[in-house]
Amino acid sequence: RTYKVAVVGATGAVGEVMLSILAERGFPVGELVALASERSAGGEVAFGNREIVVRDLATFDPAGVDIALFSAGGAISREYAPRFAAAGAVVIDNSSAFRQDDDVPLVVAEVNPEAARNRPRGIIANPNCSTMQMLVALAPLHRRAGIERINVATYQSVSGTGRRALEELGRQTAGLLNFQPAEPEVYPVQIAFNVIPHGGDFTDNGYTTEEMKLVWETRKILGDDGIGVNATVVRVPVFYGHSEAVNIETRDKLAAADARALLAAAPGVEVVDEPVGGGYPTPVTHASGNDPVYVGRIRDDLSHPRGLNLWIVSDNIRKGAALNAVQIAELVVAEAG
Ligand code: A2P
Repeated sequence: RTYKVAVVGATGAVGEVMLSILAERGFPVGELVALASERSAGGEVAFGNREIVVRDLATFDPAGVDIALFSAGGAISREYAPRFAAAGAVVIDNSSAFRQDDDVPLVVAEVNPEAARNRPRGIIANPNCSTMQMLVALAPLHRRAGIERINVATYQSVSGTGRRALEELGRQTAGLLNFQPAEPEVYPVQIAFNVIPHGGDFTDNGYTTEEMKLVWETRKILGDDGIGVNATVVRVPVFYGHSEAVNIETRDKLAAADARALLAAAPGVEVVDEPVGGGYPTPVTHASGNDPVYVGRIRDDLSHPRGLNLWIVSDNIRKGAALNAVQIAELVVAEAG
């Protein structure tokens, strides 16, 4: 059978890639509905080799939608996702609106696909991009050796912030090269030729919301509240692809060579790990526009007997958002038989 699929936020940085991945993977779409705000209603978005007219979410009747992929921000999800679910759709939500709710599964397709089956509210949450790529790589290591603590610093691209942030990096870069001052709008300070140790909002404990997502999303997805996570989230002037410098401490010693072998066999992972120039993944050389989570710089931690270092890079818009959402939709379809 085929499915009526709605993409909410179809004109956004993630939404447009959701459409292209649905087409690329031959998802059984019978009818595709592209939804966004009234600002872009009437315009067109690409779906495979077709153009689909964008419709206004506010006036759209969700009756008959089988699967709805939401990526239009938390406020839109909170308002509309329950309505789509009530109308019978399975909602796959890319925002953080429902991720912490006990009755909403938080699913990484390669890590805890079985969790997608239990969705009492008809909503499945897609994890934060940084957690997503980190856990595709760390879950197999956790299963083997028991991760007790994760220390991660991220190098996050601007696409994770949305289309306006992509434009801001382009505009500031071109402007500065032409001796124009950078005028920050999306980010609090200049992003071009800079790095910003700030993602999301500051919380009472001094960490930011983006950092705290890495803490509790990791615990929820791995089903292990004992894992310690210490995160520093940094925004860097890269368009597509997040990188992460990750240090883990495991219960049992996991040697770098063993970790490399485990990762080479892990679904969704590609190991790029040669000790030569370019023998490691970067956003530009590997991740951007591609599906895998790339892992390199795998090495034993000189400072700790059960420590291990990894460098994890992936396209935050693909595996970090749109691809995983479509993979969840594929799990839902597979259930139906
Ligand atoms: P629109 O293009 O009409 O503003 P991004 O994360 O790249 O900024 O994209 C956000 C997505 O969410 C866009 O598709 C945007 O549509 C959509 N969106 C934002 N506000 C609303 C709204 N009030 N109703 C429906 N869609 C919205």
